[in-house]
Amino acid sequence: MTQDELKALVGQAALKHVVPGEIVGVGTGSTVNKFIDALAAMKDRIPGAVSSSVASTERLRALGIPVFDANEVGELAVYIDGADEIDPRGHMIKGGGAALTREKIVAAQSRRFVCIADESKLVQALGAFPVPVEVIPMAAARITRLFAAKGGQARLRIKDGAPLVTDNGQHILDVAGLRIADPLAFESEVNQWPGVVTVGVFAHQKAAVCLLGTAAGVRQLD
Ligand code: 5RP
Repeated sequence: MTQDELKALVGQAALKHVVPGEIVGVGTGSTVNKFIDALAAMKDRIPGAVSSSVASTERLRALGIPVFDANEVGELAVYIDGADEIDPRGHMIKGGGAALTREKIVAAQSRRFVCIADESKLVQALGAFPVPVEVIPMAAARITRLFAAKGGQARLRIKDGAPLVTDNGQHILDVAGLRIADPLAFESEVNQWPGVVTVGVFAHQKAAVCLLGTAAGVRQLD
């Protein structure tokens, strides 16, 4: 099976975690796009979605799925999103699609995080994938130095020849070379640095369930 087919497999499998009658939290990325496409089949059984990005909002609306502002609704039953890395305890690195801040907000608003990914995303320890960090631009150089002191090399994410601007009007640093032995402590520490909007380690909002696409079918990690 191709990676795209594995993503479609878990996107479809995630439907059984959507609670009929309840608004669903929707993440961002190519795996979530498969989920959104599958969700269209049950759009008459849910009021709609809260979305974590402009891109997902556009895709949901194009399929006729209403999108609510996070402020208009209370706690969500479930949030479904992909990951760049996931460890066996459900800690993740996210933000490859630059949507990490809104993803963390919607995840925090949800009772259960269901992660969907192809099996290549499962790792024993986080850190091989460069950690995305959304930053206020004027703090980027100082944050880069703070990561260097931890052995990390931070690079400003570039798109079309210019710094990528997130849905929130900020920049992304991608930090390579980190070994994240304690994801909870790492997330807490980096979140304190002035100018950090969001660090792409999801340990406080970790996955309750992970659906991994494999050649043998969907493997569930709880
Ligand atoms: C976007 C994300 C994505 O969930 C993550 O990058 C995985 O994306 P994909 O499903 O395309 O591999 O965190 O900010």
